[in-house]
Amino acid sequence: MEEKQVFARIDRLEILATMPEVISEVMRFAEDDSAPLDALANVVLKDAPLTVRIIAAANSSLYGRNLRSSNVRDAIMTLGARSVKSIALSHSLIDVINRIDSQVHLKTYWKHSIEVAIISELIAKKIGLREREEAYIAGLFHDIGVLVLDSCFPREYAHVWKGAQHGDSLIKLEEMLFSTNHCKVGSYLLSLWNLPEVYPSAIINHHDTVDLKEPDQNRMIPQIVNLAERIARYHLDSTQSLKDFEFDNRKIIMKNLGLSQKDMADIEFDVMQGFLDAASFLEIDVGSPTELLSEANMRMFKMYRELEDILSTLKSDTNYTEQMEYDRLAVEVLHTVVATFSHYFNNACASILGRAQLIEMAVNKGELKDHNNVLNNSLFAIQNGVTSITGTIAELKRVKTFKTTLYHDKTLILDLEDALKKYKPDPQKSKTPQKA
Ligand SMILES: [Fe+2]
Ligand SMILES: [Fe+2]
Repeated sequence: MEEKQVFARIDRLEILATMPEVISEVMRFAEDDSAPLDALANVVLKDAPLTVRIIAAANSSLYGRNLRSSNVRDAIMTLGARSVKSIALSHSLIDVINRIDSQVHLKTYWKHSIEVAIISELIAKKIGLREREEAYIAGLFHDIGVLVLDSCFPREYAHVWKGAQHGDSLIKLEEMLFSTNHCKVGSYLLSLWNLPEVYPSAIINHHDTVDLKEPDQNRMIPQIVNLAERIARYHLDSTQSLKDFEFDNRKIIMKNLGLSQKDMADIEFDVMQGFLDAASFLEIDVGSPTELLSEANMRMFKMYRELEDILSTLKSDTNYTEQMEYDRLAVEVLHTVVATFSHYFNNACASILGRAQLIEMAVNKGELKDHNNVLNNSLFAIQNGVTSITGTIAELKRVKTFKTTLYHDKTLILDLEDALKKYKPDPQKSKTPQKA
């Protein structure tokens, strides 16, 4: 299937066709710093459920407020335009999502999405980003594309879930079937609703591998959501393994955002409380604390087992590396031994050859009698033997590893015979001419 066919099908999905008008108005007023808060209050008042939520938020510890008032104007003053926008948008999108007809288990979906939203917000807070609400919203809806794809193509998407259970990547399976993926679909949808660019651009890359780069204020939220996705403990696909976490990339994003290991530990510590508060405020059922605890335990156990597997693989890799280093050192030692021995052998050979030459000279001068050519033949044999010894030493020095050594068939016998032929003295050249 081509990507444009997928998007054409999404365009026909009635429930996604338009955003409620009140949300567009809230967004418009909240984005406009010069707009009076009274105007924003009038827009909010058009939507009764939204009004209730804004007042509840102003009285809620989640927003760090304790207004004790039921007046929407006071609530908006207390919360500020950014928070009002975030509340309006999140409730409106939750409403849309809950009405999407999909086979995805919504409790699982929300657990993952709320966790990513809270982590994104905590990261934004930790790095001092002003747009904390934007990070939260982007995290909350980063996987909306999964629901949409599943709703539009239930039969095809069932194959994606099946493949994911066998350990294949969700993104790869989606690309194979739809020539697109849930990140692109989610981003397309948020653009369709004319939401500010920060949202589609945060969602489109949330599974991408990130390069090490200079900090760029405009690209913070996409990386925040990407990192939050890697830290989250609850996943859409319960079979996701520790090996899929791409720890290297997690480190790169941390570096890009200027986060230390200590910052990450602080964030991970605060996630659970924020998660429970947000789920309660958004009125989303994520399961009882006992269910959550038991799931967390199961996941810890699974991670522990996977970690053990990784450690044992690492250990065998270390053993292999140690063996390689041991072999390298052994060859180095062997070279030193050969070099030392060759020094002594060469000295001995030079001495033998020198003596042989003296005898040869004495024979030639007639100082020594060579009856029956015995001396001459012996000198030739000595020269021949010495040349063989020096040739063997030269060949031994050339042996760097066993891989560079020639073998007979597959045995371990060195093929030195052939190599030594070139060192053999020429009998015609070396042989001392016979005296007449
Ligand atoms: Fe996700
Ligand atoms: Fe995702």
